[in-house]
Amino acid sequence: MRIGIFDSGVGGLIIAQAIRELMPEYDYVYLGDTKRVPYGNRSHEAVYQFTKEAVNYLSRKKSCALIVVACNTASARAVARIQKEMAKMPEGKHTKVLGVLVPACEEAALHSRVGVLATVGTVTSRSFVTEIKKLNAKCRVLQNPAPILVPLAEAGESELAKPFLKKYLEPLLKERVEAIVLGCTHYPIFKEEIKNLIPKGMRIISQDEFIPKKLADYLERHGNIKKKLSKSGKVEILLTDKTQNIEDLTRAWFGENLESKIVSL
Ligand code: DGL
Repeated sequence: MRIGIFDSGVGGLIIAQAIRELMPEYDYVYLGDTKRVPYGNRSHEAVYQFTKEAVNYLSRKKSCALIVVACNTASARAVARIQKEMAKMPEGKHTKVLGVLVPACEEAALHSRVGVLATVGTVTSRSFVTEIKKLNAKCRVLQNPAPILVPLAEAGESELAKPFLKKYLEPLLKERVEAIVLGCTHYPIFKEEIKNLIPKGMRIISQDEFIPKKLADYLERHGNIKKKLSKSGKVEILLTDKTQNIEDLTRAWFGENLESKIVSL
């Protein structure tokens, strides 16, 4: 069985690549819902429905033993509900689903004042605030939606992104946060630009840097899942729609020249 990695689009390939780098031995299937991306501006219910379809597809048709929902919007709006539903299913039909939001909150909760940049959907859900406060009730959490960053990242416009990054970071920096959480798959693309806009020593909490290790630790603690995973080092990339730009981004963000296939959920 394989490890499934799901995102609304191709941004999750940044996390997928980091996971593969740490654990190249496993077999992976990446699913990007490129036909319906972005999820960030959609309703709670739509994000839940789309994520559920993707999870069902990966578990039933692609025999994944474990699915990482690498999308923050889907993690914020759908993962907890899907986990509850999965838990009610009989043992044999049960697929473990993990999000990327709680691991980021574990890092954020180590600080007393953090700023979160995310999509409108993630910010509105207040999931980062709730989860961080569960771990550290004293932590002050400031959020700012940064809706323009996803299209700019996909267009490769790092230079054009700078004034927007400055605008989105400003209210968080004014409150003298200790760390900035990149609460969206695409934002690690702008890590260098963000570094140049924040005071030296301020931490950037970027999921590609700790999700792989947290997943490896999870597998160590869950030998029943680990032993189901096949190890031939293969990766399959599935998308629900493809354009030249999507293909270019897939190569650039995954760092490998892999042919992607189109599927219907
Ligand atoms: N993958 C989404 C996230 O991490 C960003 C793109 C979208 O809006 O679908 O929130």
